[in-house]
Amino acid sequence: MRPFPFVPAFVLAPMEGVTTATTRELIASYGGLGLVCTEFVRVAGEHVSPRFLKRQVQRAAGVALSVQIMGNDARLMAEAASVVSANGADVVDVNLGCPSKTAARKGVGAALLKDRAQLRALLTTMRAAVPGLFSAKLRAGFERSEDALDNARAVEAAGADFIAVHPRRRVDFYRGVADWRIIALLRRELSIPVIGNGDVWYAADALRMLEETGCAGVMIGRPALRNPWIFRQIAELNAGRSVFAPSGADVVAHLRRLHASMAPALHGTPAHLVGALKEHLVFLCRAAPNGTDLARRLLRLGTLELLLEAVEEAFSTLPPEALDLDAFGHRRLEPRAEATPLYDGP
Ligand SMILES: Cc1cc2nc3c(=O)[nH]c(=O)nc-3n(C[C@H](O)[C@H](O)[C@H](O)COP(=O)(O)O)c2cc1C
Repeated sequence: MRPFPFVPAFVLAPMEGVTTATTRELIASYGGLGLVCTEFVRVAGEHVSPRFLKRQVQRAAGVALSVQIMGNDARLMAEAASVVSANGADVVDVNLGCPSKTAARKGVGAALLKDRAQLRALLTTMRAAVPGLFSAKLRAGFERSEDALDNARAVEAAGADFIAVHPRRRVDFYRGVADWRIIALLRRELSIPVIGNGDVWYAADALRMLEETGCAGVMIGRPALRNPWIFRQIAELNAGRSVFAPSGADVVAHLRRLHASMAPALHGTPAHLVGALKEHLVFLCRAAPNGTDLARRLLRLGTLELLLEAVEEAFSTLPPEALDLDAFGHRRLEPRAEATPLYDGP
């Protein structure tokens, strides 16, 4: 087995349209991260240009980079994997989790979990094209979470170096809660490292996931948009140091940094910039008092100036204790991962 260099790994999850190079860089700059993932690169029916693939390999200082590929054509995906690998991606990952209707219709993402023979053949071909670390990120199953172990075994048999699991089924989309028992099951049964993912809303949840499941690392998606300092808080908690408590002013500064870093890439298209900032705001508002109403109000604003002004007004005077961003989730606005189990397996 190839060495797995990130134990315990704290990983920023791939998120389409959100985990762009600028977002990865900014969240990594707050500390505590070992690995960041790109959103998926779609390989659909034709050869993807090497120039496009090369542009996806943008590193954030001091952290490893995983480039994710989504598709179902083994030869084309292997070709893309080989190009991103040659251009410096530390990890090439395969998307076995996208739940969208389009992905299901096209037989990609979580739909690959429906046919294990095809899955194994595809991953084996890709494995052969990747000299470095190769991984897959999967859901618990398409319709049945009881398939999680067999699917994970297919990933292992194809030669993946590690696996990340988001233990919801495709049919759940983002409903319900992630069933961490599936992470523990894969950890027990597989010999490759397992990265757990799903509903790690507070820094203390990450340590609880490590302890309860024995996973080699924790991957965090939406909660890191809601609280971009969560990885820093995890590192501080882990080291027994005092833990950073973000205030409303920190949230405003974060949004301004996002704005400054995104603006050059979206130069001349303020509407895109407003849209991109709103993607983050939806999550940032979840930690604020009356966050749903606040998000609704902010999403109606059409210009950058109005948006930044309203964010400043809503957040800048909030002290840390008014926000749901502390390491232990004392206000606990988000659901706990053990709330509604899905899994009926061994
Ligand atoms: C907006 C958004 C985009 C996502 N895009 C991807 C993607 O490109 N690839 C992928 O494997 N998962 C994607 N996911 C799933 C996340 O990586 C993650 O598995 C999921 O959000 C559960 O983890 P969390 O509870 O930490 O958010 C996306 C999730 C969201 C919310």
